[in-house]
Amino acid sequence: MANFFPRWSNWLPLKLAICSVVIVCGLTAGTWYYVTPKYTKVGYEPIQPVPFPHDIHVSQLGIDCRYCHSFVDVAAQSNAEHADLHGVSSAGAKR
Ligand code: HEC
Repeated sequence: MANFFPRWSNWLPLKLAICSVVIVCGLTAGTWYYVTPKYTKVGYEPIQPVPFPHDIHVSQLGIDCRYCHSFVDVAAQSNAEHADLHGVSSAGAKR
């Protein structure tokens, strides 16, 4: 009677074990480094006021003030909605 399993399958359990160890170690190391508050910069606070170059955006690119300061017509503060994307407002207040 011929062998049921081919010869190469003798090393299969060891190869699978080594592959699993490498994959598990890789996933653990990746998670350890990348899925942390330090890597995603939780609580980042830029120095206020933000050194924003109005001459580039307004004079050179000709962007309307209200494009960024969207509520300046109706509010007392010159909000900058786009700056809010970075967690700051024109008043320097955090969300
Ligand atoms: C491309 C977006 C953009 C445009 C256009 C723009 N601003 Fe700004 N502005 C900002 C950002 C960003 C800040 C800084 C916000 C901060 O310091 O938190 C700012 C800050 C300011 C501040 C200071 C506000 C404060 O509370 O410290 C004034 C005043 C201001 N802008 C006036 C203007 C005027 C007037 C115009 C039009 C001539 C204009 N801006 C056009 C984005 C813009």
